[in-house]
Amino acid sequence: MSDKTLKNNLKNGEHVELWDEPQGIQTLGVRAGYTRTQEREHNEAIFTTSSYVFESAEQAAAIFTGDEEGNIYTRFTNPTVSAFERRLAALEGAQACVATSSGMSAILSVCIALLEGGDHIVSSRSIFGSSITLFNKYMGKFGVATSYVDLTDIDSWESAMLPETKMLFLETPSNPLVEVADISAIAKLAHDNDCLLVVDNCLCTPALQQPLSYGADLVVHSATKYIDGQGRALGGAVLGDEKYIDEVFGVLRTTGPSMSPFNAWIFLKGLETLSLRMNQHCQNAMALAQWLSEQEKVNKVFYPGLADHAGHELAKKQQRLFGGVLSFEVKGGRTGAWNVINQTRLLSITANLGDAKTTITHPATTTHGRVDEEERIKAGITDGLIRIAVGIENVEDIISDLSRGLLS
Ligand SMILES: Cc1ncc(COP(=O)(O)O)c(C=O)c1O
Repeated sequence: MSDKTLKNNLKNGEHVELWDEPQGIQTLGVRAGYTRTQEREHNEAIFTTSSYVFESAEQAAAIFTGDEEGNIYTRFTNPTVSAFERRLAALEGAQACVATSSGMSAILSVCIALLEGGDHIVSSRSIFGSSITLFNKYMGKFGVATSYVDLTDIDSWESAMLPETKMLFLETPSNPLVEVADISAIAKLAHDNDCLLVVDNCLCTPALQQPLSYGADLVVHSATKYIDGQGRALGGAVLGDEKYIDEVFGVLRTTGPSMSPFNAWIFLKGLETLSLRMNQHCQNAMALAQWLSEQEKVNKVFYPGLADHAGHELAKKQQRLFGGVLSFEVKGGRTGAWNVINQTRLLSITANLGDAKTTITHPATTTHGRVDEEERIKAGITDGLIRIAVGIENVEDIISDLSRGLLS
């Protein structure tokens, strides 16, 4: 298709996916997925409507039966939300995407759609605290059991597999210890055992890593993080082959954790700058990790960009850059960690990550505070651990803010 056809198609309000030439990640982030309306707006429109009008009773019936395509109700579909879904799918290299109200509802919807009582999950132990609570407390209530394994030890994944295992779940890099999993190896294990591999790609985003290209079956996102990038809105997404996404969509349209059109618009704007922001997050994180490694009050720095990190080589292969999140353990346990956190003035003490503003967190008493202490320590989240989600400010200012607690 020529450029001229592309312009004509856009003029007629058709999808930009009509492009037949491969597009770079930044071009896709800026342009993919939007259907321009007859108003010929340049910026994406927000469709703040809960329902849609039909031209006739016949058309209403045809759309309800699925014989004709069209919007019915925003719990099911919405043009702004659909544009976000198509854009994120283009970036992840996914066949399909369904947007959700939050990252947690994305994970919950995957579980409800694809698992049933008696099934078993094998999950990395190094996942977000609420994901652990979801699996243990809520999925457990409906007869789905979960075993936890060491993210980076393929033998531990293998030995946890049961005949009932249906889903393998991981985050890579993990939060907060930024361990790196070999997605291809775990995907092979999943497929050899007729299971699905679900990867939470929240920390890397498609700007750094595309798990589906390494064999994952589904990717989940908390769009609340880097996809928004400015800490404004809650959202999530599930991506993968249509046959799985159709099932997840069924859960959403029935139970309702759908994304709001306004939030979808924020995330569409976030995707436009995602690659640029990720570059800056990663550059700052690398410089900060190097500085922290030289500090006497720091026992250990966890960042895959450092050559002594166990996942360094794998991250080099699997990721475009090393990510914007790092952790470090200070001397003095909880008192030592709180002392560093409390002396910051620029950094925001908040549990969120993926914001332009640098955030500092004490995982043991916040994000992982509800996790059983034994499980938490086993996962390496000690009392002296501090997580930094490095923002896009000048890195010298971030360093100087941390110097108060670390150099005094
Ligand atoms: C890795 C990861 N996955 C999922 C979530 C849940 O996302 P949300 O807060 O959008 O529900 C979070 C954090 O909140 C997270 O850090």
